[in-house]
Amino acid sequence: MSTQSMLTSWIQGQKPRAHEVKDASVFYRNLEEALDGLRANHAMFTPNISAWKSGEGVDFCSNDILHLGFTGQIRAAFEEELARHPNHNLHSGGVRMLDGNYEYIQQVENEIAEFHGAETALIVNSGFDGNTAIFGALPRPGDAIIYDELVHPSSIDGMVHSLAVCRKPIRHNDCDHFREVLASVVESEEGVRDGSRCVLVAVESVYSMHGDVCPLREMVDIAKEVCPLGNVEFIVDEAHGTGIVGPKGAGLVSALGMEKEVAVRLHTCGKSLASAGAAILGNITVRSALTNFARSVIYTTAPSFHMVASMKAGYHLLKTGAAQKAQENIIYLIKRFVTAIRANHDFQKASEMGIVWVPLCKDLEERKFLVHIVPIRTRDRYSYWLAFHLQLAGYCIYPLDHPVVPKGQSCIRLIVHGANTEAQIDGMVKSTCEWAREMVEIETGAAEGNNRIPKAAQQVYAMMGAAA
Ligand SMILES: Cc1ncc(COP(=O)(O)O)c(C=O)c1O
Repeated sequence: MSTQSMLTSWIQGQKPRAHEVKDASVFYRNLEEALDGLRANHAMFTPNISAWKSGEGVDFCSNDILHLGFTGQIRAAFEEELARHPNHNLHSGGVRMLDGNYEYIQQVENEIAEFHGAETALIVNSGFDGNTAIFGALPRPGDAIIYDELVHPSSIDGMVHSLAVCRKPIRHNDCDHFREVLASVVESEEGVRDGSRCVLVAVESVYSMHGDVCPLREMVDIAKEVCPLGNVEFIVDEAHGTGIVGPKGAGLVSALGMEKEVAVRLHTCGKSLASAGAAILGNITVRSALTNFARSVIYTTAPSFHMVASMKAGYHLLKTGAAQKAQENIIYLIKRFVTAIRANHDFQKASEMGIVWVPLCKDLEERKFLVHIVPIRTRDRYSYWLAFHLQLAGYCIYPLDHPVVPKGQSCIRLIVHGANTEAQIDGMVKSTCEWAREMVEIETGAAEGNNRIPKAAQQVYAMMGAAA
């Protein structure tokens, strides 16, 4: 699908529809009315196929971060794995704790656990299932949960169904706020105070909207200080750190050598490992609790051979260092992007005017970990205009606007991949700076004909008009 046809299909998807079903039953009318709420905010998801998939655009958006999928590396490793098991079954045969268990899945779990320096690994069908299992099953009655306000919805879904006595959010990556909230939980919950109940702390190693890394060492030290009885345990979702951070991509916990200080980790394979499924790491107690209390583990068919083989293929590429070049290229290109955009006069001017800015420009050199996600922040609603500009220039990248992100946090999210090139990054910089210049001219009244809308947006709005 070309960028033009993708935009056309997206525009079509934002047109109100409730009036078209006014004679249908109330069930359909109510659903279309709710969907019209999304359409009014241009927030309706439509089944697009990104232009990079047909080679008509550059991939700056997909979760195939190391490009193990794009380059065919994962397919080759998977096919080799299949060839080693010519008599494999497609089905697992049942739920894991009844007929669904098999030797191969146990072997792969052992290999994954070893790679991450964990006692056990439990493979589940997805990261979403993993988080609902972790947070639904592990908190016992009277336990409290403290979570970073940006944790994934799957963690929140699990917490909502847990037996925890309370759930308290903390401001994103804010250690002082963590200390304050932890102290208030100790104060209000007797069981936590006397050490008979615990506090579970939910964080992510890398946050997908901000591209920043959890101050895990600092948070664990604060927990030890505030709760010297040792009843605070950490749960780290490594979905965006897997394959990217740490030795051979083993994750943040491994990078910091904190394997013994973190009770539970979640590694997903649908992102940088270009396959599917997830593994929950913990000790034998954690594993037993999950296989006996977690509804998304107990009441579902055990993972199939094919999914487990694809996970093994991804881990094989990490272990053998086959993904290392991609990992290094990502960091190199991120530095190249930030250095170039920081030096550009038009971009600087637009940043000073609060039109568009890249938070990473401020502290690139101070960051202990660089990852693949670079948010490009814009004034509210400008994220669409910048995204239109970049998409029409051939860069596949999406705007994130309210309600997907809180008001005032509009951005587009540049995801740099293993097989992206210098030329692609340079083109992205050039195109972003052209838009910044156009916006500065518009805002300072220097634009031709005193036009208030940038050219790419005019083009898209004309397409919208034609589609109406
Ligand atoms: C932080 C985080 N955790 C968990 C998940 C869910 O993983 P999966 O896609 O394997 O269900 C995601 C996916 O978007 C995620 O970003």
